Amino acid sequence: MRPLVTLKLATSLDGRIATASGESKWITGEAARTEGHRLRASHDAILVGVQTILADDPELTARLPGRPVDQPLRVVLDSRLRTPATARVATGDTLILTASEPVAIGTARVEQVDAAEGRPLPAAALAAIRRRGATSVLIEGGGQVAASFLRAGLVDRIEWFRAPILLGGEGRPCVAALALAKLGDAPKFRRVSAEPVGDDLWERYDALR
Ligand SMILES: NC(=O)c1ccc[n+]([C@@H]2O[C@H](COP(=O)([O-])OP(=O)(O)OC[C@H]3O[C@@H](n4cnc5c(N)ncnc54)[C@H](OP(=O)(O)O)[C@@H]3O)[C@@H](O)[C@H]2O)c1
Repeated sequence: MRPLVTLKLATSLDGRIATASGESKWITGEAARTEGHRLRASHDAILVGVQTILADDPELTARLPGRPVDQPLRVVLDSRLRTPATARVATGDTLILTASEPVAIGTARVEQVDAAEGRPLPAAALAAIRRRGATSVLIEGGGQVAASFLRAGLVDRIEWFRAPILLGGEGRPCVAALALAKLGDAPKFRRVSAEPVGDDLWERYDALR
């Protein structure tokens, strides 16, 4: 069975995850970011696309004040192995899933999986993550990776933190193109809760299938 997939979004009111220049730190406030760390700690794996690694060089660890945390497996989708050996995720336990012949990148494990149009398939990525023993995955972006999993019908839940700012049409969308032919094809969700967290709004959704 594939892992449960949660998509975490931290966006502006208009659903942007970064400015046009790629600046994204920080759109949401501290309270929302603490909830983000709790979400990381409650999942077995965290997954991002290589553009997020190149833009932000995130550590992708769960950090909660005053208590040790079992760290989730970090997973990067990186078709052409652009993750720098100096990236923070290139140390420790990280799985880099690629469409290319594997080469060493720091201490990460690099694994070739089935691909389409030169990119690892979301289903193949989930199978590789499951083989590592993970039963839940938190997708943390960016927009292209979110769109790939949504297009494949592989998002079970959304955890959406929305900050009261507007970034406009030139900002980076939280979900890239879905190539929808008609409204009926749109991925659909049911809201299960909505609550304030600091100045932000935290909405939770389950997929409708
Ligand atoms: N606000 C937030 O919380 C937040 C969170 C995360 C990211 N961000 C921002 O989002 C921006 C990056 O987002 P992004 O949409 O440009 O990139 P992204 O989704 O992080 O990465 C996309 C890249 O991943 C690779 N990839 C490999 N397999 C893929 C697959 N199956 N589907 C999709 N991509 C695949 C592709 O490059 P290759 O084909 O070369 O491998 C693709 O260009 C940055 O500016 C970052 O700061 C913000």
